[in-house]
Amino acid sequence: MTGRILTFPDGFRWGVATAAHQNEGNNTRNDFWAWEQIPGHVADGSTSGLACDWWNRAEEDFDRAAALGLNTLRMSVEWSRVEPRPGVWDAAAFDRYREMLKGLLARGLEPMVTLHHFTNPLWLAQRGGWANGEVVSLFRRYAAKVVETLGDLCQVWCTINEPSIYAAHAYVLGKWSPGESSLLKFIRVTRNQIKAHAAAYHAIHRRQPGAQVGIVKHMAAFDPADPASAADRRVAAIRDALLNWRFVDAVTEGRLKFPFGTGLGRHAPAVDSSDFIGLNYYGRHPLRFDPAAAGTLFAGETQVPPEIAWPEPWTDREIYPAGLQRFLTRLARYGRPLYVTENGMADATDEIRPGFILTHLAALHRAIRQGVDVRGYYYWTLVDNYEWVEGWTTRFGLIALDPATQERTPRRSAQLYAEIARANAITGEMVEKYAPAAMGQVFGD
Ligand code: FCB
Repeated sequence: MTGRILTFPDGFRWGVATAAHQNEGNNTRNDFWAWEQIPGHVADGSTSGLACDWWNRAEEDFDRAAALGLNTLRMSVEWSRVEPRPGVWDAAAFDRYREMLKGLLARGLEPMVTLHHFTNPLWLAQRGGWANGEVVSLFRRYAAKVVETLGDLCQVWCTINEPSIYAAHAYVLGKWSPGESSLLKFIRVTRNQIKAHAAAYHAIHRRQPGAQVGIVKHMAAFDPADPASAADRRVAAIRDALLNWRFVDAVTEGRLKFPFGTGLGRHAPAVDSSDFIGLNYYGRHPLRFDPAAAGTLFAGETQVPPEIAWPEPWTDREIYPAGLQRFLTRLARYGRPLYVTENGMADATDEIRPGFILTHLAALHRAIRQGVDVRGYYYWTLVDNYEWVEGWTTRFGLIALDPATQERTPRRSAQLYAEIARANAITGEMVEKYAPAAMGQVFGD
C-alpha cells in the first residue's frame, strides 16, 4: 500500500461546517425555536436548548478545529440575534460575533460566514417570512449591516444555505415552520430567495468589493429507481431540475425557469450573482414514480435497498460518493470556483464514517483531476449538533457530544480527518488504517 497517494492542490481549504441555531444554544428569538417547543415536531421530542453552547464557548471548539490542522470553518450569523426587532440592531450580539471571528482568525481558521441557515427572526415569520416579497429588502438590509459590522474580519460570505431544502421543508412537506403544504408558496418563496440572494450579493459587494459571495446549494443525486422505467426517469429528471439546478441557473444566468418564471427574460440583479458555488452533498435518492402523488411536482418515492441505505433515520438515501464527482463536474460548466460547503454522515458509532470521508474525498479528487476548480471541503460537522426536526437522534460530528453534560469525545474520524488535512493528501496507509475495505474505491482499482 505504500506509495499510494492522492495529493490535493496547494492552499486547499480543509474545514468543518456549522450553523448558528444548531450550535449556539438559546436562540429563543427565531421561528425554529418556537417550532421545536411544539410536541410532535421533533423526532425525539428534544429542543435545541444549549445546543453546543457556542454562544458562550465556541472558542473551545475552535481550539479543537485548529488542533485537527484545519484552516477554515464555516459558521452562520443568527439573524434573530443581531436584528431582534425590525431595524433594531443588537450591538452586544455583533460584539460576540466579532469575538468569534477574531477567535477563528487567531487560530489560522479562515471564516466562511452564512447569512441565512434555515432560521428566521420571529418578527419576520409573523410578517409572512419568505412568502412575503418584503423579505427581499429586509434580507438586503440585514446582509448590508452584517458586512458593515463584521466585514473587516471575513471575506467569504454564503447568502442562503440550501434554499430549495428550506422552501421544500417549510412550504411543501410541512415539516418546518410555518408547516405549509403549498406548491404555489414553494414557487413564490423560491422566487423571493433568488431576489433576496441577488440583492444581498450587490449590497455586500458595494461595501466590500473584494468579498467572495456565493450561494450554498444542496444537491441530491435523484436517479430513477428502475432505469428502464420511463416514469421513474421522468420523476427523477423533474426533481433534479427543480431541486438541484433551477436555483443555480437563476443566480448565474439570471434566468428564472419554469415553474419559477418563464425562463425568457432575465432578473438583471441575479445575473452573475454568485462568485463561487457551494455544494452540499449527502447522497443518492433512487426515485420510483408514485401514481398517488402524480400531479405534484414532487411525485415519486425514494426507495433504497436497506443494504446500501444510510443508517436510521435517513434511510431514504444511499451512500453514493460518485454523486459528488458528478455534481462537481456538472457545476464546472458555470465557470466559478467550487467549494464542498457540506458533506458528512450521521454515524454515532463511527463505523461507516471513515470510509465515507475517504471515498467522498477520493471522488472530489477525481473531479479535480478532471480539471474542476474545487477550492475546499467542509465536513459536516465538527461536534454533534442539534439536527433540526431529527433533534439529537443523528450524530454527524467528528467529535461526539453529550448535550446534557457538554462533554466532548473525539471519534476516530477526527483523527483521520486531521491526518488528511495535515498531509493535504490521502495516503494508502491512512486507508489501510481507517477503512481498508475502501482501498479499491479510493484509489480507483
Ligand atoms: C444540511 C443542512 C445542515 C445539516 C446537515 C445534516 O442539509 O444544511 O444544517 O442539517 O444537512
